[in-house]
Amino acid sequence: MAESHPADALSMFDQFNADIPESTFPEHGMGPRAAAAVVNSEAWTDANPMLNLSSFVTTFTEPEEVDVMLRHFTKNYIDHDMYPQLYAMETRMTQWLHDLWNGPQDAEAFGIATVGSSEACMLAGLAHKWNWREARKAAGKDASRPNMVTGGNVQIVWKKFFRYFDVDERIVPLEVGNSRLTAQHLDRFVDENTIAVVAIAGQTFTGEDDDIQEIHDWLDAYEKRTGISIPMHIDGASGGFVNPFLYPDYAWDFRLPRVQSINASGHKFGLVPPGLGWVVFRDRKVFNEGLMFYVNYLGGEMPTAGLNFSRNAFQIAVQYYLFLRLGRSGYTKLMQAAVDNAVRLRDQLIASGWFTIMNRTQRIPVVALTLDPKATNFNEFDVSNKVRERGWVLSAYTMPANAESVRSLRIVVRPHLNRNLCDILAKDIVAACEYLAQHGGNATPPTLHDPHSTATTKC
Ligand SMILES: Cc1ncc(COP(=O)(O)O)c(C=O)c1O
Repeated sequence: MAESHPADALSMFDQFNADIPESTFPEHGMGPRAAAAVVNSEAWTDANPMLNLSSFVTTFTEPEEVDVMLRHFTKNYIDHDMYPQLYAMETRMTQWLHDLWNGPQDAEAFGIATVGSSEACMLAGLAHKWNWREARKAAGKDASRPNMVTGGNVQIVWKKFFRYFDVDERIVPLEVGNSRLTAQHLDRFVDENTIAVVAIAGQTFTGEDDDIQEIHDWLDAYEKRTGISIPMHIDGASGGFVNPFLYPDYAWDFRLPRVQSINASGHKFGLVPPGLGWVVFRDRKVFNEGLMFYVNYLGGEMPTAGLNFSRNAFQIAVQYYLFLRLGRSGYTKLMQAAVDNAVRLRDQLIASGWFTIMNRTQRIPVVALTLDPKATNFNEFDVSNKVRERGWVLSAYTMPANAESVRSLRIVVRPHLNRNLCDILAKDIVAACEYLAQHGGNATPPTLHDPHSTATTKC
């Protein structure tokens, strides 16, 4: 827009200052500056994404990354015929992830870039459902009641999967003092209709990993005993981009033969801005061919597997940029710094005497705390509300079924936080506790509308 004439400026101000209709579609348009000013000013009171530590999702971008983003954000990713090189990047990256997650060398690597881990989990769940059903039918057995076994610590996506795709939920309840799925109660939940057991690497509530090896070994013994072989899916939404870099000797992935599929969020510790997930299969044949479609209406035959069709291409380009830019050594450095900073923050909060740590192991950079019993007149929700005055957004929540009595304060220490910021945050949290101890708090956990769901956390 050319430099505006004073009269234009005034009319722009009138447009900016106009009433915005609540429930009727706007009758007339306005100038681009006025429209942008209305949009941006209306969001001023929203949280600062950099201070939103209740979320695992990336908020930091390098300028070069923004440039890559801008060059690709008007492309519809599904249009592989138009953008074959973007599709080639996806294919290459799924092979890299298969390698990163120690997929067998003699297997045909196969994976799909999705909109997030939720879509990735659903595709993996569907593949296991279809494989189970085919095997049951081939054996002349009933295939009408598939079930899936998870821990009570699963993210809401798995509950959606059960309901949306008609799979019986077999959720092993948590216990107070143990927020992970272990092999302990599996015998009560697993049977011939179990399409897969889901174990988490980097769970939403406390950041811990389920006992993946123990579950795997239990399923081996179960197969020996019953002849029933049950695959595992690893929900590595967060751990998928931390474990391979920081704990290369830890077998959580395809090194365990029963692990047939793994998902991870490119937009969490994959470090891409929101809109990217990954699902990778141990071998091409695990992704049931019945779930693959071939279309030709965008020009040329094109395979498509996914719950969405059109989607933005920039996330694929940015993930490719980040894999090339950082490599294993770069991700290792950033993840190590994030974990070190999480430990630094955790240690300061524990030393304050106000908190007890919930995650017994510290793999992903998450600090999950519960208030010490000496905090008698305020709770975790009060602390979250109080630090919000300084701009920090921290998750306070009650744990899922069976452990609802436990309340938690969770802080995701993403790599954009440096030591200095962690120290400022620690001081702010301790100051909030001291204020609340003096003045008292009165926050109550929010009521959930859905009687089927337990706790909700942001992701
Ligand atoms: C363990 C786990 N699985 C799945 C999801 C869903 O991921 P997305 O937000 O990428 O769909 C989350 C989100 O936090 C998660 O923590």
